[in-house]
Amino acid sequence: MTEHIHNKPSLGTIGQLEGKPAKRVMSGMRPTGRLHLGHYLGVLKNWLALQNEYECYFMVADWHALTTKYDQTDVLQDHIIEMVLDWLAVGIDPTKAHMYVQSHIPEEAELHLLFSMFTPHNWVERDPTLKDMVKMLSDDLSYGLLGYPILQTVDIISVLGELVPVGKDQEAHLEISRQITRRFNRLYKTDLLPEPRPLFTDVPTLVGLDGNKMGKSANNGIFISDTEDETAKKIKKKAITDTNRVRRDDPGNPENCAAVFQWYKAFASKETVEHTETECRAGSRGCGDCKKMLTELINEELRPIRQRRAEYAADRGQVIQILNKGAEHTRGEARRVLNLVKRSMHLGK
Ligand code: TRP
Ligand code: SF4
Repeated sequence: MTEHIHNKPSLGTIGQLEGKPAKRVMSGMRPTGRLHLGHYLGVLKNWLALQNEYECYFMVADWHALTTKYDQTDVLQDHIIEMVLDWLAVGIDPTKAHMYVQSHIPEEAELHLLFSMFTPHNWVERDPTLKDMVKMLSDDLSYGLLGYPILQTVDIISVLGELVPVGKDQEAHLEISRQITRRFNRLYKTDLLPEPRPLFTDVPTLVGLDGNKMGKSANNGIFISDTEDETAKKIKKKAITDTNRVRRDDPGNPENCAAVFQWYKAFASKETVEHTETECRAGSRGCGDCKKMLTELINEELRPIRQRRAEYAADRGQVIQILNKGAEHTRGEARRVLNLVKRSMHLGK
């Protein structure tokens, strides 16, 4: 027996938000706490655009966090709220997108078990993204971490996600998700599961203030939640410019300007960038001026975002309510998919 879920009138519109096309967007982030400007430019701005076009499911991947941080559960709840505060601050809108926490959807656990049965172990073992994660471990590889791409696949299929906005680093996981959905459909002679497609962002990764990769622990980034003063101070004290420049009127080279010019390109208009570049090369622009202007640009763009964050942060109950509502809706979807999956596999119901 085959079962479709797409455009099948008997199943209704499956919570489709009014006026949006049928394609569903699903994405997730592990709860690492407060987000930095790299997340803002690389991920959240993309989510913002998508929520106006598609029905979106944005998930806090707390189970995925446990695959490596099972020993740091004391900070987990706080990290979840801090991250969702950033989502809400930038404008992810609970009336436009479903926001929820993975572990609030227990149907996913059952799906994960079922999907782990027919996913060949060598598919996950050769996943280069997973290999990179394993390399960074100080402990042994857990059984759960090995299942990381399977769980991620389940995140997507439990809401029948078709478009998955992610960074390039997730490409290998997504390829496995595609393979798994094809295998499911073939094994159980159905076309229930759509093959999810990644949507990569074309924004280049923002470097850290010190020119290295921006990371949470490296403390070389600016957080969405930083104050304007903290932002100014970090840029003034930590941001690397062209280190070959000694005096203010030495001609500079923006290409060697490891952080400031890179950030400039991300926040300033094209004209401002070109103007800066010309002045830098002519030696008529001081790095201090550049830093000041960059600070202004960032603080200005983030002002309404930080304002909104403060409002939500003062009312955490509201944040929890938003997540509960998102989970309630998503559980309905996941239950429906779980039942269809089980029916395809001739299990119960
Ligand atoms: N693995 C993703 C990351 O580290 C997070 C994630 C979990 C995810 N579940 C997902 C992304 C489902 C897209 C879809 O960034
Ligand atoms: Fe970088 Fe600006 Fe200094 Fe040139 S003037 S090196 S672009 S900070």
